[in-house]
Amino acid sequence: MTTTEASAPGKIILFGEHAVVYGQPAIAAPVSQVRARAWVADADAAASAGADADSAVCIHLTNLDYHYTLSEAPADDPFAAAIRLLQQEARLESLPSLSITIHSDIPIASGLGSGAATAAALLRALALHLGLSDFAGDAQVSRLAFAVEQLHHGTPSGIDNTVVAYEKPVYFVRQQPENRIEPFTIARSLSLLIADTGVSSSTKTVVGDVRRQWQAEPARFDALFARCGQIADQARQAIEAGDIAQVGALMNQNQELLRQMTVSSPALERLIAAALSAGAIGAKLSGAGRGGNMIALINEVAAPPVRAALLSAGARAVLASIIGA
Ligand code: PMV
Repeated sequence: MTTTEASAPGKIILFGEHAVVYGQPAIAAPVSQVRARAWVADADAAASAGADADSAVCIHLTNLDYHYTLSEAPADDPFAAAIRLLQQEARLESLPSLSITIHSDIPIASGLGSGAATAAALLRALALHLGLSDFAGDAQVSRLAFAVEQLHHGTPSGIDNTVVAYEKPVYFVRQQPENRIEPFTIARSLSLLIADTGVSSSTKTVVGDVRRQWQAEPARFDALFARCGQIADQARQAIEAGDIAQVGALMNQNQELLRQMTVSSPALERLIAAALSAGAIGAKLSGAGRGGNMIALINEVAAPPVRAALLSAGARAVLASIIGA
C-alpha cells in the first residue's frame, strides 16, 4: 500500500497585512520549522463495500483526534471542501477508497497561516497520490488553497496560500487578472524571533472589522493602507540592499499604522515593548492581529536577551527563524 506525503510551512507577514486585502503590496515569508503534513493512502475497498464512494474516503485529524468520512463532513469542513474541489477540477467521477491523515504543528488562529498550510499539504498529497501531477505544482496548489480559504475568510488577499505553496519569501500584490507574485533577493539574512501571545484570534472577524472601519471612514483608511504599501516597497528595497536597521525602523512604522487600524492588542503591545527594550531592531504584530503572533527583528547577539524578555512578558512560545539563510 503506497502512502503519499506532502507538507507546507507556516508563514509570517513581514509587512503589509490588512492593507494587502485592499490591493497594497505586502511581504511574507515561510516559517519552515513549523509545518502542516498530509498523508494519503489507499484504503481497504472491501471494508467499505456497499457504502457510497464518499464514505470510502476517511479523514483523520490527528491534532483533534477527530475522524470522519467525506460523506459525514459538515458543510463548512475545509478538508472536505479541498477534496471535492480537486475532484471537481480534475473531473473525477468518483474517488477511490482513501485514508487521509492531516497533522499540523502550526498553532491555529495565531497568524501563522495554519489554514492555508493544511489545505496546501492536503491538496498536494492528494493530487500526487491520484497521479494528477498538473494539480500538484505550486501555482495550482496555491490557487486551490485560495479557493478553500475563500470559504472561510470571505475576502482573503491570497498572500497566505501563495507563500505556503511556493515556500519562498514573496512580494505580493493582490490584483486582477493575476496577482503579482515576486520572489526577491535577501542581501543579508533577517533573524527573527516569533512570539505567540497565546490569544487566539479569528482572521475572518478581524478582517471584517477592518472592513467596517474602512466603510465608515474610507479616506482615513485608504490613507493608512497606502502608507502600509509604501512601507512594504521601502522594506523590499532595504531587504534587497541588506539594510537591516532600515528594515527594523520600517517594521516599527508598520506597527504604528496597525495600531491605528485597531488590530493590535494589549498582549501584542506587551511583547513588542519587551522585545524593543531588550534590543530588538524592530517589532510588529504579524497576521490579522488582536492576538496571535508578533515578530521581532534581532541581531544574533541580542537573541538570548530578547527571547528572555518575550518569555517574561508572557509569550506562550518563542520560535527563531532566519529568512534568507
Ligand atoms: O491571520 P493570518 O495569518 O491568516 O493573516 C491574515 C493576513 C491579512 O492580511 C490580515 C488577511 C489576508 O487575507 O491577507
